[in-house]
Amino acid sequence: MRKKLEQAAVKVMKNAHAPYSNFHVGAAILLTNGKMFSGCNVENASYGMTNCAERTAIFSAVAQLGPKIEIQAVAVANDHGVACSPCGACRQVIYEFGPDATIFFQGAAGPKQAHITELLPEGFRLQ
Ligand code: THU
Repeated sequence: MRKKLEQAAVKVMKNAHAPYSNFHVGAAILLTNGKMFSGCNVENASYGMTNCAERTAIFSAVAQLGPKIEIQAVAVANDHGVACSPCGACRQVIYEFGPDATIFFQGAAGPKQAHITELLPEGFRLQ
């Protein structure tokens, strides 16, 4: 399962729009219903409008299936082979749809896996 997700993350990375950072990122998510979605980072000349690969994948799943999705796992890949864990904003978005999700990413010392609550302790929820 991890390999399949990582392969999808690498594949979608090629679609990234990253002319400002030249850092291409791909992400793939596996839902508890078995479906997979992927996304890449989409940058903008107004830098703050950039959407990370992880959020692109999640928003694409919601657009396709609606909000009743549960993320089981997320894989992240980048074209520099450097450490790259989901940013704070993406951690919160992953938590919204996957409070029990496992994240596969490149850590400082190589491939790593972590539970979303390790990456985002005390994530915010309404109700
Ligand atoms: N980026 C992602 O897409 N995902 C991450 O996990 C880390 C950062 C993107 C945002 C921006 O387009 C580029 O990487 C450099 O920060």
